[in-house]
Amino acid sequence: MKYKKPKKVLVTGAQGQLGADMMELLKRKGITAVGYGKDQLDITNAEQVLEVIGYERPTHVVHAAAFTKVDEAEGERDKAYAINAFGTRNVAVAANKVGARLVYVSTDYVFDGRATTPYHEFARPRPMNVYGATKYEGENFVRNHHARAFIVRTSWVFGVHGPNFAKMILQLGHQQPELKVVHDQVGSPTYTVDLAEMILQLMVTERYGTYHVSNSGTCSWYEFACAIMEEAGLAVKVRPVPTSQFPRPARRPAFSALEGMALRLNGFPALRPWQEALRDFIARLPKD
Ligand SMILES: NC(=O)c1ccc[n+]([C@@H]2O[C@H](COP(=O)([O-])OP(=O)(O)OC[C@H]3O[C@@H](n4cnc5c(N)ncnc54)[C@H](OP(=O)(O)O)[C@@H]3O)[C@@H](O)[C@H]2O)c1
Repeated sequence: MKYKKPKKVLVTGAQGQLGADMMELLKRKGITAVGYGKDQLDITNAEQVLEVIGYERPTHVVHAAAFTKVDEAEGERDKAYAINAFGTRNVAVAANKVGARLVYVSTDYVFDGRATTPYHEFARPRPMNVYGATKYEGENFVRNHHARAFIVRTSWVFGVHGPNFAKMILQLGHQQPELKVVHDQVGSPTYTVDLAEMILQLMVTERYGTYHVSNSGTCSWYEFACAIMEEAGLAVKVRPVPTSQFPRPARRPAFSALEGMALRLNGFPALRPWQEALRDFIARLPKD
C-alpha cells in the first residue's frame, strides 16, 4: 500500500487518553506533531479553530477532542452538541480549508444495541443516548464538510492516560474484596495504543471512509473486569449483575461490538485480541 509519511499532524484533545497516546506514537515515529488541549484550542470556538489550524497548516488532523461523559451528556445536552457536533464541524471546516486530511474519532454508541452480531460500517446508526446522538451528528458534519476524511468508530477505550473502566476497576480491586459488574452489556475493548497505530496506518492512505477500529473479540463488562483482575494478579471476587441494578442517567446499548469490515475490505490488518492489549496496558501502568 502507498505510504507517504505525514508532514505535520495536529491533534485535538491532546491531553485526553487517545490524544496523549497519539502524540506519543507520532513523536516515536519521528513525525512532526502539534497537540492542542482545550486551553489553547477550544473546538467550540469557530474563529479560534480557523485561526489555530490556519496558523499551523497541518497536513493531517486527528480530531480526538470530545465531550465523553456519557451520563453527564444527558443533563448537559447543549454542551454535548456544542462540542461533539458543532465543535467537530468547526474542525472539519478548518481542516478542509488548509487542505489537511481529517480523522474524526467516533463511537460504538451510535448504535442502539439491538443487534446480535457485531455492527459493521454499513449498519444503520440509531443512537439511544445524547452522547451517541451528538457523536453521530459530528460524523454527519464531517461527511458534509470534508471530502478527505476518515471516520473511525471505536469502543470501550482504555489506556494509561485514563480515566477509564479498566483503571477504575483496578483501583477498586485494590480497595475492595468483592466487586459487582454488569454482565448484560457486550462490546469490544480497545487499547489507545493500538487505536493510535491504526489511525496512523489509515491516514497515510487515500482510502477515506468510515472504519470500525476495536481490538478483536468481544466481552461483557463483567468478563472484562474478571480479565483485568486476573491479569493484575488481584484475588478479588467479581460478581455479575444486571444493568437494572445500576441505574444511570444514560441508556446504553446492550450489544455494541464492532466488526472491522472496512479494515478487512481495504486490506488493513485486524487489531490484536483485546486480551493481549490488556496485558500490555497493565504492564505499562506505573507500579506502586
Ligand atoms: N472513552 C471511550 O470509551 C470512547 C469510546 C468510543 C469512542 N470514544 C471517542 O474517542 C475519542 C477519544 O476519547 P478519549 O477517551 O480519549 O476521551 P477523553 O480522554 O475524554 O479526551 C477528550 C479530550 O477532549 C477535551 N475536550 C473537551 N471539550 C473540549 C473542547 N471544547 N475543546 C477542545 N477539547 C475539548 C477534553 O478535555 P477535558 O477533559 O478538560 O474536558 C479531553 O482532554 C473521542 O472522540 C470519544 O468520543 C471514546
